[in-house]
Amino acid sequence: MSNTTPILCARHVTKRYGKFTAVNDISLDILPGTVHSVIGPNGAGKTTLFHTLTGTTPITTGSIQVEGEEVAHLPGHRRVRKGLARSFQVTSLFPNLSVRENLRLAAQGKHPYAALNPWRRPELLRAACDSAEQLLTRLNLQTVAERISAELSHGQQRRLEVGMAMAAQPKVIFLDEPTSGMGIDDIGEMKQLIHSLRDSATVVLIEHNMDIVMDISDQITVMQQGQILAQGKPAEIRSDERVRRAYLGSMITGGKA
Ligand SMILES: Nc1ncnc2c1ncn2[C@@H]1O[C@H](COP(=O)(O)OP(=O)(O)OP(=O)(O)O)[C@@H](O)[C@H]1O
Ligand SMILES: [Mg+2]
Repeated sequence: MSNTTPILCARHVTKRYGKFTAVNDISLDILPGTVHSVIGPNGAGKTTLFHTLTGTTPITTGSIQVEGEEVAHLPGHRRVRKGLARSFQVTSLFPNLSVRENLRLAAQGKHPYAALNPWRRPELLRAACDSAEQLLTRLNLQTVAERISAELSHGQQRRLEVGMAMAAQPKVIFLDEPTSGMGIDDIGEMKQLIHSLRDSATVVLIEHNMDIVMDISDQITVMQQGQILAQGKPAEIRSDERVRRAYLGSMITGGKA
């Protein structure tokens, strides 16, 4: 965490839908090797901000740099090659393939063109298999490796989705509400998994569960009505009067803090 050169810089990012401004002049620095959470009430523009950063939706105005390189107008698949990966609220698994096959495919996707080269295929397949086995362990899915992904529990599916994003070995991984709809046991496991990601990547996290956000974030950005309301470390956000009024009040005083 000593590296203070941002891996991702967003400047004056604005996204309009017709006359409605969903993301309004957001500027953000994401530092490498950190968990940076984006929180805020429903409709604040968090998911829309993610979509503009990952290239899922075109930006209206503004600049987005990844390691100093402008990507604001690159399509999503080109940003993947710059090292951005995302895990959606919507499931992105191949339901009829096994857990292991899902991970192997995702790992192969790292070299989409090289995989077409017959001379490099065996070597790349071996690498994809190795990385799938490592992921199975990290995701705690070894015991269900042969099951088709449609048969997994909800919590296991959500972990596998994060694993699919990890398989490409991204520099920055975007997670939009990875614990939504989860039971308490699965939430604990997901929290540990997200926290462990920052050893090898940078995590940008949208999350409504304040216990998780306050425990594992290095930096928190609070959004409200498309804009940044506050930014800081968990302790600063927790004690910020404006944040309490806008969003956290009931959640924090009613929670473990
Ligand atoms: N494709 C779209 N067309 C028009 N308006 C949209 C579109 N997508 C999002 N919006 C609007 O932009 C605003 C921000 O939505 P967004 O999904 O980014 O919020 P959010 O902070 O992720 O909320 P939540 O916590 O409920 O997921 C909302 O008012 C939403 O209705
Ligand atoms: Mg959202």
